[in-house]
Amino acid sequence: MTAASIPGLDHAPTMHSSLLAWVRQVAELTTPQNVVWCDGSNEEWRTLTDRLVKTGTFVRLRQKPNSFWCASDPSDVARVEDRTFICSTYEADAGPTNNWMDPIDMKVIMTEHYRGSMAGRTMYVIPFCMGPLTAEKPMLGVEITDSEYVVASMRIMTRTGSEALALFGEDAEFVRCLHSVGAPLKPGQQDVPWPCDQTKYITQFPEERMVWSYGSGYGGNALLGKKCYSLRIASVIARAEGWLAEHMLILKLTAPEGKVHYVAAAFPSSCGKTNLAMLEPSIPGWQVETLGDDIAWMRFGEDGRLYAVNPENGFFGVAPGTGWRTNPNAMRTLYKGNSIFTNVALTDDGDVWWEGYSEAPPNHLTTWKREPWTLASDELTAHPNSRYCTPIAQCPITAPEWDDPNGVPISAILFGGRRATTVPLVVESRDWQHGVFLGATLSSETTAAATGTVGVVRRDPMAMLPFIGYHAGDYFQHWIDTGKHADAAKLPKIFYVNWFRRSADGRFLWPGFSENARVLKWAVERLDGTTPAVDTPIGWTPTTDGLDLNGLDTPRADIDAALAVDVREWTAEIPRIEEWFATIGDKLPTALHDELEALKHRLT
Ligand code: GTP
Ligand code: MN
Ligand code: MN
Repeated sequence: MTAASIPGLDHAPTMHSSLLAWVRQVAELTTPQNVVWCDGSNEEWRTLTDRLVKTGTFVRLRQKPNSFWCASDPSDVARVEDRTFICSTYEADAGPTNNWMDPIDMKVIMTEHYRGSMAGRTMYVIPFCMGPLTAEKPMLGVEITDSEYVVASMRIMTRTGSEALALFGEDAEFVRCLHSVGAPLKPGQQDVPWPCDQTKYITQFPEERMVWSYGSGYGGNALLGKKCYSLRIASVIARAEGWLAEHMLILKLTAPEGKVHYVAAAFPSSCGKTNLAMLEPSIPGWQVETLGDDIAWMRFGEDGRLYAVNPENGFFGVAPGTGWRTNPNAMRTLYKGNSIFTNVALTDDGDVWWEGYSEAPPNHLTTWKREPWTLASDELTAHPNSRYCTPIAQCPITAPEWDDPNGVPISAILFGGRRATTVPLVVESRDWQHGVFLGATLSSETTAAATGTVGVVRRDPMAMLPFIGYHAGDYFQHWIDTGKHADAAKLPKIFYVNWFRRSADGRFLWPGFSENARVLKWAVERLDGTTPAVDTPIGWTPTTDGLDLNGLDTPRADIDAALAVDVREWTAEIPRIEEWFATIGDKLPTALHDELEALKHRLT
């Protein structure tokens, strides 16, 4: 088929010449049956979701309005870090923590995969904007995809369609995002509910501001505005322009007397960002509102403070463990409908269920593997990385300023991981550089959010290990420079937290969830200078009565164990940090080396 004969290709609602040329070029390569330019309208949503229901990808829920259940291919359930590449011209620019391939070689390989890959399918062109449409310089992108699931999800997760396209003009810059599930259909061939390919590539070309994704339909691999653009590509842009693109939630904390602080927090995937972002504080008078649950773009404002914007428009949250007790605000958001649920269980009356959704499961379910499940079954009903996709705007505690293009001034940054030992509940860094050291040495047990072994401790600097689009050593230097160029008094204070420390018999020492408000309270008291702290080798920790424990029934011994800084454990941590720093090589900033030496000195 020649491109000229592909229906829809020429019905482009734009005069943007390089966009038109690129769309034509992709259509010629991938040979779709037709091309649709997405306008983001309600009518388009209805057509798409009806089609997804008809093909068996979606099941319309009867218990939640305008919402859908979806089960992926069992092999396509998480980000594939071993198939994720940073294709900078020079390998040294990708660094030791990323997979690298020469961009020309990668394009040759992927072009052959894309050749004819959309045959028998519709090719959708999705114009989108990351961050507020009203931004001075809107951050634009276009995703070309052959997956209706992706189109529907992108409509929730980003600002898509005509409103975004209106910002393109005839020559605006945008990030080119190409996605194909890699499952062409022969004439008359029956489609499957979740098309994908065994071969997968998630490729970033940072210098060209371009993403090519092939073979997977899963969120982090296929919704290219999210991790690929807003973290991997944006981190490269941010370094060049002097800002930060980070794997962070953004929340607004209001104290009983009305004082407001904005807090950003970076935890690795499946380590509590979405839960903290929607926190319902257990301590009276304190209020949390949410601005974002996964990504923060932070720039200095004219007043010298660091301002954060959430580039996303939706939550793509981990479902298991989300319930009325742990995260009631997420539940309230989901009950409003307009959501897509992937790899959770389906109830017989047309609702969703997952481990932790309610106290007890219904007697009968359909699992994420589309298999019948009864109370006698011992399999999980939902995949541990099953997700809900829902609009931010319908969360009852979304702060009105979430869509403000100027962002919100950040008072505190939390880094945290999932560590059964060693890392205390909360530590305040000594200064910005020490805070960068804490972030750079952040460690966490691996989770189901990426394929691979779960529960292994690995370093995950700033929770960005899978998302830094360039050399990790340069990234650390960028963080240090960010502090150097700022007025120290106006920089956010950096804290290190761990909700996941365990007792010798394996229990969580800290109750977590809504009780994490107590840690936030301590942090802002430190900002305001109203509470003293203990000087330990790893930073400042709460005094014996520093944390507000009113109304908490956790045994004091557990709290003390959660807060403890154990010199033996930290001494054992040193060689692991040294090993990690060795993998960074020559580009490890001297400042971080100095911080390590200072820590060793304080431990002896
Ligand atoms: P991504 O969306 O993958 O980036 O992850 P996330 O950081 O948003 O993780 P999320 O908030 O979805 O948390 C995932 C897991 O952490 C779930 O199993 C939660 O139950 C658990 N979790 C969250 N907060 C806490 C806490 O305070 N204590 C404990 N013990 N578990 C928590
Ligand atoms: Mn994430
Ligand atoms: Mn999340």
